[in-house]
Amino acid sequence: MLRKLIFSGLILVFTVGISAAQVFTVDEKDLEKQADLVAKLMVSCRAIIAENQELINDPEKGDKGFTGEIYVRKVKEHFKNATGIDVFESDVSSSDPVKKTLGTLLCCAREVIDESQKVINMKGKGFKKIIPAVVGRRTGYKFNKVMGNGYYLKQTSMKYRNPANHPDILEAKYLKEFEETSHQKGKGKGKVIIISDGSKVYRYMLPVYVEPACLKCHGEPKGERDISGHIKEGYKEGEVRGAISVMIPYSSTNLVQSK
Ligand code: HEC
Repeated sequence: MLRKLIFSGLILVFTVGISAAQVFTVDEKDLEKQADLVAKLMVSCRAIIAENQELINDPEKGDKGFTGEIYVRKVKEHFKNATGIDVFESDVSSSDPVKKTLGTLLCCAREVIDESQKVINMKGKGFKKIIPAVVGRRTGYKFNKVMGNGYYLKQTSMKYRNPANHPDILEAKYLKEFEETSHQKGKGKGKVIIISDGSKVYRYMLPVYVEPACLKCHGEPKGERDISGHIKEGYKEGEVRGAISVMIPYSSTNLVQSK
């Protein structure tokens, strides 16, 4: 009898344990998806600036035709190719939290380029500090302000150039993990954490790697100055340069609604 009781007790503990874990993972998976898409939209924003770098830096040309509207159109195409997902600026007012977050980011991205038109169209000036990292940082600031409490988006690195991109403890931990050979290249990582006021947030990081185009500023010779006046870090192609870091509030209103 006692044996039977212990046995059913064990089964009960086991089943409850599993279902609790399953409920938890479903929520976390949704948040991971949302955070991953936000990070990937930021990657698309960075990529379109990189693709148009020569045009932006052209000292001969005045009006570049690189307006916020054109930029956002290209970002949307890039994002669609990468994820298969359509995103629109009008999603800013969507009731679906994922769409709303992505739509907001798209609107912020457009604003940054619209606000930079005077600089971009300056004739006689080559390097204008309109580069992926700076545009990304400014877009992140806007996004954080518009989305408010619990949300944040930033670019970070162990060898950060801008103190604003300094990694916190969790970011530094994940960046080190991304550098390990055992980490699957390109894979992001996230987890739910409880912050000091007791509320929960989902933190996520997507690694960013050194590509050939990055080397003229971040590559060799280490210690030399690049075109932006910063010291080159001596990175090699394929190394982890940093990550896109995303935080979203963990709440039921934030979960993907269309499962
Ligand atoms: C024209 C020079 C230049 C090129 C090319 C360049 N970067 Fe940067 N990068 C910078 C500067 C300048 C900063 C600091 C930006 C700021 O003020 O936030 C920076 C910052 C960053 C950061 C944020 C962390 C930090 O150091 O503050 C990341 C991540 C980054 N770059 C990745 C890349 C990647 C990946 C590439 C290639 C795809 C690349 N960069 C190409 C100049 C460059």
